[in-house]
Amino acid sequence: MINKAKKVLDEAEVIIITSGAGMGVDSGLPDFRGNEGMWKEYPVLKDLKLDFASIANPKQFKINPKIAWGFYGHRYDLYKRIRPNAGFEFLRELIKNKKDYFIVTSNVDGHFQKAGFNRDKIYEVHGRINKLQCTKCDTEPWNIDDDKRFGVNPSTLELSTTLPYCKKCNAIARPNIMMFDDYSYDYSISEAQENRFNNFMNKYDKNGIKIAIIEIGAGTAIPTIRHIGEHIHNKIDTATLIRINPREAQVPKGAIGLATTGKVSLRELCKDYMESYPLHMIDQRELQKNKSYDKNSDAGIFADELSPENEKRVDDIMLALALNKAAKAELKRRENQEKLKKSLGAFMEAVLDDE
Ligand SMILES: NC(=O)c1ccc[n+]([C@@H]2O[C@H](COP(=O)([O-])OP(=O)(O)OC[C@H]3O[C@@H](n4cnc5c(N)ncnc54)[C@H](O)[C@@H]3O)[C@@H](O)[C@H]2O)c1
Ligand SMILES: [Zn+2]
Repeated sequence: MINKAKKVLDEAEVIIITSGAGMGVDSGLPDFRGNEGMWKEYPVLKDLKLDFASIANPKQFKINPKIAWGFYGHRYDLYKRIRPNAGFEFLRELIKNKKDYFIVTSNVDGHFQKAGFNRDKIYEVHGRINKLQCTKCDTEPWNIDDDKRFGVNPSTLELSTTLPYCKKCNAIARPNIMMFDDYSYDYSISEAQENRFNNFMNKYDKNGIKIAIIEIGAGTAIPTIRHIGEHIHNKIDTATLIRINPREAQVPKGAIGLATTGKVSLRELCKDYMESYPLHMIDQRELQKNKSYDKNSDAGIFADELSPENEKRVDDIMLALALNKAAKAELKRRENQEKLKKSLGAFMEAVLDDE
């Protein structure tokens, strides 16, 4: 299967990356996968009898804004603190020599932007956590200040800092995320992103252009992302879906399912380009220096924050680099030995000839 996927990626001129919460799992972020999963992460919500559809709901910002903001504020702080895992870098490798690419994600964490992808090539179907909108007036969504941290009381899940308010009308602000029963979600940013994605599709859905869709960690509980990939796969003869998901890898006819984590499959898929990846993965600062770094992205903003998970990642990379170096030295040694044997052979032959 992996070889089949490699071939599809090799032959593809255009790549569509689609992803769900599973993409962040390798960075140490939780996925939810329904109420049970969400309650495991936020047990207080189970005690309060708030399921996913009730807490991720605009109503909560009216009924209990401290709890609504506790849920989103905690996630905001977490997504800010954690840096994107190596899988994002592998994806950057995979798109490097392609004609074009686009990313469609249900994640609200902004990690594709943070990992250096062009923000004009990202469609966040469920919105984004780093922008706020007003619960009352129609002022445009605005950015949360970069140094803002919400802070949450872990035993009550209540926001421990002041609630965010609209600068125009002073009503409570909420994240620009599409929630359940959400009739007040401000679509403006998503709409512009969707238009860019539609233009992209109109350009490439013809003339036999080969398209690979790589889907990572998109679940069946809220299947928006899975449907988008399957739709393109079914509609366009030259498009092939590669689904990466350790638990839900079942695929429609002609598609490829890889039942491993994102990081494992993606590493395997771009193994052939390995030589070039490790150095700029060590630190986002390296990424900024790298020529392919995209100025429109948010990469490197939190360069100084190295989480324990990422500390370990750096260790892994250093180890891989060391092993790589050792392997190269060993090859060189064998090569030299071979050369020595050959010249020794020639010398012996010459000696014997002389005799
Ligand atoms: N980081 C985020 O922004 C974030 C986090 C949680 C949930 N959400 C959003 O909330 C909604 C529902 O969330 P959900 O948790 O049900 O998401 P989901 O439906 O996308 O489910 C997660 C999927 O990821 C798979 N997965 C788990 N570990 C993985 C790994 N290491 N590599 C690859 N795949 C892996 C799971 O098998 C599951 O199918 C979605 O819109 C989702 O995008 C966003
Ligand atoms: Zn307002």
